[in-house]
Amino acid sequence: MAETRIIRELPSHIGDTVTVRGWIMKSRSGGKISFAVLRDGSGYVQCVVSKADVPKGVWTDFGGLTQEMSVAVTGEVREDARSPGGVELGVTAVDVIGSSTDYPITPKAHGTSFLFEHRHLWLRSRKQAAIMRVRNEVVQAIRDYLYDNEFVLVDTPILTGSIGESAGTLFETDYFDFGTAYLAQTGQLYLEAAAAALGKVYCFGPTFRAEKSKTRRHLAEFWMMEPEMAWYDSVDNMRLQESLIAYIVERCLERRVGELQELERDVALLERVTPPFHRISYTDAIVKLRELGTDAVWGADLGADEETVLANAYDKPLFVYDYPKSVRAFYMKENPENTDLVLNNDLLAPEGYGEIIGGSQREDDLDRLLTRIRENDLPEEPYAWYLDLRRYGTFVHSGFGLGIERTVAWICGIPHIREAIAFPRMMTRLYP
Ligand code: 4AD
Ligand code: MG
Repeated sequence: MAETRIIRELPSHIGDTVTVRGWIMKSRSGGKISFAVLRDGSGYVQCVVSKADVPKGVWTDFGGLTQEMSVAVTGEVREDARSPGGVELGVTAVDVIGSSTDYPITPKAHGTSFLFEHRHLWLRSRKQAAIMRVRNEVVQAIRDYLYDNEFVLVDTPILTGSIGESAGTLFETDYFDFGTAYLAQTGQLYLEAAAAALGKVYCFGPTFRAEKSKTRRHLAEFWMMEPEMAWYDSVDNMRLQESLIAYIVERCLERRVGELQELERDVALLERVTPPFHRISYTDAIVKLRELGTDAVWGADLGADEETVLANAYDKPLFVYDYPKSVRAFYMKENPENTDLVLNNDLLAPEGYGEIIGGSQREDDLDRLLTRIRENDLPEEPYAWYLDLRRYGTFVHSGFGLGIERTVAWICGIPHIREAIAFPRMMTRLYP
């Protein structure tokens, strides 16, 4: 009996006869020799069979392989310098496990909506699998970084009674006798409570925004990693963001070279992502944007196009800090030197990817926070516990939210964030 192996292990089994289980990516039959590429999740290997070397049944079975059939292929591992993994499989037996007739995604080009309608199958394609592996690396890099820097993971609730970010994009659901609950837009408010208990904390999970926008940057359900740090001011906050982003990019460059190659990513652009990043105040950014030919006006939030124009003027990520209070959430701390501004920042990725992080120092003064809640027409009662954090030992603290899909899309160099998550949820999509 041949031993069962995964494709990644094959280079250390040259000369052995092994069995590999997987799916047929493509096959090509000739008169005397036939080929198929097999995928098992750990890698890809070319399988070769020559008519003269195998019983007739094996030759016929191999010739009948179709795209995405699941099979167990047995053969000898042979060195083959031209193959990506340096080996190929000289097939001696093939066992069909699951047939596959008329697989919908063929090598010809398909439209985007067709591909998303078949997302459950499209994930099997090389590029989509590469994106998922980069995503996995990004997430693992984040977790390692935070663990090594003494952050404590605190899982925050998804069902909440208070509005975390803005009333405009809430998903609501019935909640027993309490009436309406909201799907979390952020875990931040809960993390602020946890930071007073544990110092440096983070949450990482799905967040929900009923965004009625069909842009390439918006999902209705996206994953956000949010750290919250006691005793960090806005400057400390940006320094942490810079260090984390540089680490994430470095990890992908180190460990996901093959995937970035598969995605035809220009890695030279990523190699530049080292601290320090550029920093510009919102007010200076408006001046700069006008110099660059836009009609940006002070007081309005930056639009996607403005973010792109601005970020394109720099060769690595750009912090824009101290936005007008009127265009930012209620919890951000007023700038004591100019109370029209808040101590916040966005981090804009280069190459037109726009905001990947939103962060701020939090309002730690009870009265000012109450005023902000009222100015924003938010109900006070659900925030009673949040206000307690300012009543009992208030503290300087800051944090931020990193959007996973936007970060992955940027690192992969893909145009739309919906490919950066396995099963995207958008205004226009709930299937599959
Ligand atoms: O800027 P946002 O809304 O910030 C917050 O939610 C804060 N409570 C975070 C914090 O300070 N703890 O969102 C943070 C990031 C954005 O920069 C973006 O990367 C991502 O989350 N994001 C989205 N990603 C995909 N689809 C959407 N609809 C997104 N909305 C925000
Ligand atoms: Mg934001």
